[in-house]
Amino acid sequence: MESGLDFHTARVLLEWQIELGATEAIGDVPVDRYALPETTPKPKKPVAAPETHTKPASMDPVAVAKQAAKSASSLPELRAAMDAFDLCDLKRGARQLVFADGTPGARVMIIGEAPGRDEDREGKPFVGRAGQLLDKMLAAISLSRAENVYITNVLPWRPPQNRDPKPEEIGMMKPFLDRHVALAKPDVLVVMGNISCQAVLGKRGITRLRGKWDQALDLPVLPMFHPAYLLRQPQMKRQAWADLLELKARLRERG
Ligand code: URA
Repeated sequence: MESGLDFHTARVLLEWQIELGATEAIGDVPVDRYALPETTPKPKKPVAAPETHTKPASMDPVAVAKQAAKSASSLPELRAAMDAFDLCDLKRGARQLVFADGTPGARVMIIGEAPGRDEDREGKPFVGRAGQLLDKMLAAISLSRAENVYITNVLPWRPPQNRDPKPEEIGMMKPFLDRHVALAKPDVLVVMGNISCQAVLGKRGITRLRGKWDQALDLPVLPMFHPAYLLRQPQMKRQAWADLLELKARLRERG
């Protein structure tokens, strides 16, 4: 290789750039900008912002979301309404909407945080490493997406560089989440991690909240550690196991 990099080093560097958000290669050779002649950029004429990116000041995103969510009377309609919602800036940085996966109408509905890189690519929630762990956790209590679990996220678009969602982003997508729960009609909700606890229960502090049943949207809600956290802190899997058994017991109790 001309650059002197071996294949593996070049690949790692490329993956790192993709992780930083690079989506396109614009040249075959790197440009050494220090070697370019210095030029003073001419001031450009101000260009009017394109129509699609301007939000009239009077437009309240939460009110628009509420109206759009309310008018959806099925899960496919809700998906279409979310896809058409243009007031959340996250949409512009994401490849696609990540709506849900699993079995609509299942007794258990899991609510995660937001899509990551893999989910953004595939258009389904929890398909990366955290998702694989989640599937194993569910299988341990005889649950699976294919049969009896429905999964979604608080946010349907990947935040740039996987940053934490902002309160205003959560607030404007919450009417869609509420409607999603109402249309999916689960028996119980499982909220994974602090962001989902905040969105659904209005509370943070997952270490304190986990494993204790709470109530929201007229349903029992079980907060649990997020599987991504369990990948980083495997010693916490013990508590996660206790929470899974709690979920299993509740499902049995309610037939
Ligand atoms: N983490 C989440 O909270 N949701 C996903 O879909 C993937 C990772």
